[in-house]
Amino acid sequence: MEHWSSSSWRSKPIVQQPAYPVLDELIQVEQTLSQLPPLVFAGEIRSLTQDLASVAAGKSFLLQGGDCAESFAEFNANKIRNTFQVLLQMAVVLTFAGSCPVVKIGRIAGQFAKPRSADTETIDGIELPSYRGDIINDIAFTAESRTPDPKRLLSAYHQSASTLNLLRAFATGGLADLHKVHQWNLGFVRKSPQGEKYQHLAQQIDQALAFMESCGINSASAPQLRETVLYTSHEALLLHYEQALTRQDSLTGDWYDCSAHMLWIGDRTRQPDHAHVEFLRGVHNPIGIKIGPSTKIDDLRRLLSILNPDNKPGRITLIARMGSEKITELLPPIVRAVKAEGHSVVWSSDPMHGNIIKASSGYKTRSVDAILNEMKGFFEVHRAEGTHAGGVHFEMTGEDVTECIGGAFQITEDRLGDRYHTHCDPRLNADQSLELAFLIADTLKKARG
Ligand code: TRP
Ligand code: MN
Repeated sequence: MEHWSSSSWRSKPIVQQPAYPVLDELIQVEQTLSQLPPLVFAGEIRSLTQDLASVAAGKSFLLQGGDCAESFAEFNANKIRNTFQVLLQMAVVLTFAGSCPVVKIGRIAGQFAKPRSADTETIDGIELPSYRGDIINDIAFTAESRTPDPKRLLSAYHQSASTLNLLRAFATGGLADLHKVHQWNLGFVRKSPQGEKYQHLAQQIDQALAFMESCGINSASAPQLRETVLYTSHEALLLHYEQALTRQDSLTGDWYDCSAHMLWIGDRTRQPDHAHVEFLRGVHNPIGIKIGPSTKIDDLRRLLSILNPDNKPGRITLIARMGSEKITELLPPIVRAVKAEGHSVVWSSDPMHGNIIKASSGYKTRSVDAILNEMKGFFEVHRAEGTHAGGVHFEMTGEDVTECIGGAFQITEDRLGDRYHTHCDPRLNADQSLELAFLIADTLKKARG
């Protein structure tokens, strides 16, 4: 195989990139970024690889979730805390009700760049570059806002650093303590059936903790009760940013993309001979590959041999986003092909991206029922094939939004406008996320007999 370097992707064909008007500015920003401290460190990335290897082996479950796209405007501590709390709630439901250890990964602290179906957008006869995420340009429809600005890479880095700082504080500083399980229930969820179900589960956890306390095990003596780990992830789309944060580990000599623990490659940028695959093959992070209806088995085989030639468990997570109607038909041949190769992967379900519909009001939405059906299909396929349904990948938020229809609050099409805040795809709100977590927990429990 050809020599790899953190810049070897530059000689390959590439899609989904912004056209920066002034290249000198970009080069300067890349230079600055490459001197800044890494956001995560290689040892943590290796721990995640090990944790994912345990998922691949069927011993634990992967929960990955967060915003479709983070934004500069909606960046504040409450929002980070709410997302964190919903992830904790979902994780604790899965851990307790599903009796399964959970690996937690946020789509957070770097999830800024978005692939688009067209390079430009035309409104009232005016054609401007498409919005590609806050790390690239601004969503407002003016020529100035839509012009890609390299300084945004630095803003994204600093926002990611402070987000990560708070997440680490939450994870180890007391908020994630299992004794606080009641407090994770957000105000607006409390009154819903899901919220009540959750309170009930929290009471059972209290009892278990009280029993352990009597046996001499408490948060002081067992840090596992008090702390958790939330890893970070995003789509490795803007390679200028990813390269600038790529560092050689002094312990092993291996290269790591230190912008996040896990990176994934999107459905539109996974061509085996293109730049995104070239970049990711050389970094030692766990890699997610989105697989959709257009995935060809031969391409996938090639991808696996390029991205994981040594078949290292935990390196590859295949994230299926087939759509609720197609999953039971399209996934089995892929599962069989990967199994036949003897390739170790984590199988994860993204029940969000194959189920986007346009409501008659014009809003982009998803129905909780379709999301649920895709997930059920995913679990069914793996049961039939004898493989481990290893995880889920959600777009969700801790805010009380009305972006997906259905769920216990029965958000209907005509109510989408009430609190539709997403910059990109419609997200599950806290209540809908919790509902799905309970359903997955039931399925996990059944699967474990
Ligand atoms: N440390 C364990 C874990 O992270 C248990 C735990 C502590 C936990 N706080 C948690 C589990 C919050 C889920 C949510 O899995
Ligand atoms: Mn999305």
